[in-house]
Amino acid sequence: MKIEIPRECERLGAVQIYGLQKVYELDSGGNSGRADTSHNDVIRSIPSEALYERQKDMAIVVPVKNERLKLIEGVLVGIPHPCQIIVVSNSPRGPVDRFHIEKEAITNFCKFTNKKVLVVHQKDAAIAKAIEMAGYGELLGEDGLVRSGKAEGMIMGTLLARWLNNKYIGFVDSDNYFPGAVHEYVQEYAAGFEMFDTKSTFVRISWNSKPKVMENSLFFAKWGRSSVHSNKTLNLLLSHFSGYETEVVKTGNAGEHALTVDLALNLEYASGYAVETHHYVNIIESWGGILPPNEEIVHRDKVTICQIESRNPHLHESKGDEHVEDMIDASLSVIYNSPLCPELLKREIAEDRALRMRLEKPEGIAPVRVYSNLSNLKLDTFLEHCEAAFSSESESLSLV
Ligand code: GDP
Ligand code: CO
Repeated sequence: MKIEIPRECERLGAVQIYGLQKVYELDSGGNSGRADTSHNDVIRSIPSEALYERQKDMAIVVPVKNERLKLIEGVLVGIPHPCQIIVVSNSPRGPVDRFHIEKEAITNFCKFTNKKVLVVHQKDAAIAKAIEMAGYGELLGEDGLVRSGKAEGMIMGTLLARWLNNKYIGFVDSDNYFPGAVHEYVQEYAAGFEMFDTKSTFVRISWNSKPKVMENSLFFAKWGRSSVHSNKTLNLLLSHFSGYETEVVKTGNAGEHALTVDLALNLEYASGYAVETHHYVNIIESWGGILPPNEEIVHRDKVTICQIESRNPHLHESKGDEHVEDMIDASLSVIYNSPLCPELLKREIAEDRALRMRLEKPEGIAPVRVYSNLSNLKLDTFLEHCEAAFSSESESLSLV
């Protein structure tokens, strides 16, 4: 892959946020033959072998809820072979057992491809037990099972990626129409880890475009409404601390992202639409050097956030736009309610929101549920119980 070296970098304590990087060639050749492995001041050429080496240590988590089988299959087709795939499904088990149908389709797919896939249902009782024994009961609902939601599925996927000893973890939604786009995201995750080879690297993708039908023709929109708001507000937060206006953040709610498992196990997770924005906020809270140091949070030399602009258009299942206000509210809520957020910015967020929602006067944003730092989960206990869960041959948990 041929990829631009980032031009700017904002630093805050141990946190480094690099500017958006453009991809110039999806495949720039391999190590052998006439491949171009040139490096220069503006472009880095990463041989395909180097990407595959990273992917051997990478788990890709695919969250699923009631998606069409053809879509799920397309997503699996796009994930490079060396990756360990983890499908976390929260599809209903009755009256029609959707999960069973998904598992059958995935098993069949694996017969053809010999891919490594772990399929788990979000409501698997044995995994819930392992989480409870490890002292992280906050993730469980009243029924003692993992709560519903994509963020909760992501936490479950992260823990399973650790159980399978992966070094990196990436996420791709299961409702993506283009296998080629999925393939590109995973190549870019690997490129990010190759360029920033640290213990705490976070790679986030910004889509180049999102096709929409407007007046009978295709229009390639660049920014969704909700990402405009979260990027702008995160940038204002950074500007407040650095004293310099910045636009470095372009991936405030990037659903497509990957990070080292080590970092993933030391973060908080907000529920619902806020999860991605909260990762930024929480990283700055923990390592930005602004809040007083918290002894429970592992010190890090640096935490690197790298942002890559993908080339494929992003097209996913259209589920209507009525949630867009809720999405904006959720991601602004985690900034608004962070101990980092200065009064001035709080006022600005509340005033903007009052205009947007035509409220009579500005009011605060209610906090969303935030799961505490995953380091509060006793990992050894979890891994032990997880081992037992797998040997019990539960129907909602299998390696195919
Ligand atoms: P959007 O793309 O942000 O509008 O959200 P989607 O509704 O497309 O959800 C993103 C991804 O998460 C899709 O792949 C869904 O199938 C999946 N998903 C949604 N809810 C859940 C859930 O409760 N559990 C799991 N495991 N996945 C979910
Ligand atoms: Co979607």
